[in-house]
Amino acid sequence: MPKIVVVGAGIIGLSQACILQEKFPDAEITIVAGDVSPNITSDIAAGFWHPYLLGDDIPKDTLKRWLGETFDYILRFARSHPTHGAMIISGYEFNRKALKKPEFADFFLQFRELSPKEVLEARGKEAYPVEQAWFYTTVFLETTLHLKYLFNKYLSNGGLLERRWLKSIDELGEKYDLIFNCTGLGANKLVDDFGVFPTRGQIIRVRCPEVKHFFIDEETYCLPNSETTVLGGTAEKNDHDLLIRPATAKWILEENIKKIPALKNAEIVSHKVGLRPTRSAVRLETEYRTIGKKRVPIIHNYGHGGSGVTLFYGCALDGAKLAANVIQKSKI
Ligand SMILES: Cc1cc2nc3c(=O)[nH]c(=O)nc-3n(C[C@H](O)[C@H](O)[C@H](O)COP(=O)(O)OP(=O)(O)OC[C@H]3O[C@@H](n4cnc5c(N)ncnc54)[C@H](O)[C@@H]3O)c2cc1C
Ligand SMILES: *[C@@H]1O[C@H](CO)[C@@H](O)[C@H](O)[C@H]1NC(C)=O
Ligand SMILES: *[C@@H]1O[C@H](CO)[C@@H](O)[C@H](O)[C@H]1NC(C)=O
Repeated sequence: MPKIVVVGAGIIGLSQACILQEKFPDAEITIVAGDVSPNITSDIAAGFWHPYLLGDDIPKDTLKRWLGETFDYILRFARSHPTHGAMIISGYEFNRKALKKPEFADFFLQFRELSPKEVLEARGKEAYPVEQAWFYTTVFLETTLHLKYLFNKYLSNGGLLERRWLKSIDELGEKYDLIFNCTGLGANKLVDDFGVFPTRGQIIRVRCPEVKHFFIDEETYCLPNSETTVLGGTAEKNDHDLLIRPATAKWILEENIKKIPALKNAEIVSHKVGLRPTRSAVRLETEYRTIGKKRVPIIHNYGHGGSGVTLFYGCALDGAKLAANVIQKSKI
């Protein structure tokens, strides 16, 4: 019976742990995490399925597979279990300069380019002019709701949880046969991998039932969740500051209202800042480490940037495949 530890309880670590339970029902699985939902980066995401702030170095076929597997997972939940945070949503994306249709648009349930008249109707005259607009249907996964569902599933299947911060992987000792590193930006300190850096994002959660579509352009976004709507946002590279900046909040609100006047009546629920774990590519690979007298395999799964919710399921499936190789090879 292999003993597996997953460090990290974000959307990456928790989904990884749940898939390991499915694939290796005999394994003893422990999650070690400093913080858990609702206090982590994963909770700040609007959970919108859309690749964003993702490294360029992921092989195209791999990325396509991760995107497709994750989209299908969220869609399956949206159809049958909307209470677990998944929903189908339609809306607008505006481009100042016309762009080529992105390849990932093939995953959307529907995608079309709007005529100039439709653009004007959707955009109004108040906002800056745009050359192009798309209307499409995608999905979102409200992370806090889904993490709650996954946590319950994980614990009721016998998963263990230890709340603590690790300064080094060596603190895990020789207890485990396999370690998963799903620490997001935490990997920045834990791994000597300075390839991970924060991309700061400040957002506002508002209540505005009048807005039923998403609106995205190069500067701001408005992404409805089940009860609240996320207004964003910023993407500040290498900025670690977790404090709310009032001037930024004012700008986010005013810009969004200019483009979507119905937001004037929105009630502000909360201001949040999160740090996206950005890297040139997601790190998903096995490494061997000597801890005490034991050679232990570590499978890394971190660095998902602004797309953790868009990729997590495909990445967790690949993480489980790496685990199967390791377990077979070392006959754990
Ligand atoms: C404003 C904003 C909006 C976003 N919107 C979207 C969106 O719409 N769609 C989308 O796909 N993505 C979005 N993202 C990105 C998404 O939130 C991240 O990619 C994702 O949450 C990363 O998940 P994670 O599990 O790797 O990290 P986290 O959620 O940060 O989890 C890391 C876990 O590791 C633990 N940990 C770290 N270091 C240690 C340590 N040393 N010892 C013990 N435990 C440790 C933490 O406590 C935590 O449990 C957004 C991000 C931000 C900031
Ligand atoms: C989240 O943070 C708040 C405020 O620090 C704390 O009171 C709460 O216990 C934390 N929740 C969890 C589940 O750790
Ligand atoms: C993540 O992997 C690195 C090795 O590259 C290691 O130094 C670090 O301790 C690992 N962290 C965890 C918690 O697995």
